[in-house]
Amino acid sequence: MRVYIFLCLMCWARSGLDPAGPKFSGQPCDFRLDYTDAKFVDVIHSDINGLGINEPLGHIDFYANGGKKQPGCPKSIFSGVAFIKCSHQRAVYLFIASLETTCNFISFPCPSYKDFHAGSCVDCDDFKEKSCPRLGYQAELWKDVLKERKEKRFLRTTVFLDTTGTKPFCSYYFVLSITVLDNNMKNGCITFKLLNQLGMVEESRVYEKNRSFYQLQEVKILAQFSNDVVNISGIGLGYFQSSNWQCFQCNYNIHRVMVQSLTYPERPPLCIYNFVLKGNEELFLNPSTCTSGFGL
Ligand SMILES: *[C@@H]1O[C@H](CO)[C@@H](O)[C@H](O)[C@H]1NC(C)=O
Ligand SMILES: *[C@@H]1O[C@H](CO)[C@@H](O)[C@H](O)[C@H]1NC(C)=O
Repeated sequence: MRVYIFLCLMCWARSGLDPAGPKFSGQPCDFRLDYTDAKFVDVIHSDINGLGINEPLGHIDFYANGGKKQPGCPKSIFSGVAFIKCSHQRAVYLFIASLETTCNFISFPCPSYKDFHAGSCVDCDDFKEKSCPRLGYQAELWKDVLKERKEKRFLRTTVFLDTTGTKPFCSYYFVLSITVLDNNMKNGCITFKLLNQLGMVEESRVYEKNRSFYQLQEVKILAQFSNDVVNISGIGLGYFQSSNWQCFQCNYNIHRVMVQSLTYPERPPLCIYNFVLKGNEELFLNPSTCTSGFGL
């Protein structure tokens, strides 16, 4: 049975939807939602600094936008009760949105929101072909692996994602994997864009823009798009270094760039091989299907 009915501002059912903090925080687990309460407990945190709770409680805990103030919520107390409730209620709206949109709320296992924002939690390999867990009703698909992690390996699974501020809140995550041939790509900022099949440019927000690349070491960069690009007709890349003492008009030899949708991990990745990227200039190239193996 995965049904919980608690008396709080918003009742939460099945999944913990921003379970109340002020009353339950610090209580022994008998008095609050806990992973031992049901066969599988997934929790969405959306207001940990307000009415919600910070501590992870379930087999999996989703922290939407770090679990803090939600985008699109009023920023000032003058908005009255909406200011107090908006973030807390967002957990419910996120859950509902997960039922209504075809966009998967992919969420990234990470020790903290800070690490997530530093771009250090791009890997979904722990979950093999299932890829990273998804917030909302789909969380249940990860039930077995999450129960195994929690109950056999005592691993806590805290996952993070950023959303937009308006319905359906879901954004589209891609991972950009870059392997360079030279050793001279240091302390620059990456820009990453996608062209859709009509040639329209979609810009991304890159997590931890400032990256260094070392010879033949693959670097994975997480990028968030507000619109999906289903049929990618072009990939736009730039590498901008502010300090020109290093190299102003550098040419970088890129061995491979691979782009993969994480929101839809079933889509095959696309690649561009062996090209030269000019420093401080944006380059658009057409990708093709990736050949397997590393093949230099
Ligand atoms: C990137 O970070 C390095 C070291 O943290 C810094 O020296 C460099 O100026 C930064 N580059 C840019 C383009 O911000
Ligand atoms: C992507 O391409 C396929 C095949 O050409 C087409 O059927 C589909 O409508 C396109 N999707 C979008 C969203 O452009």
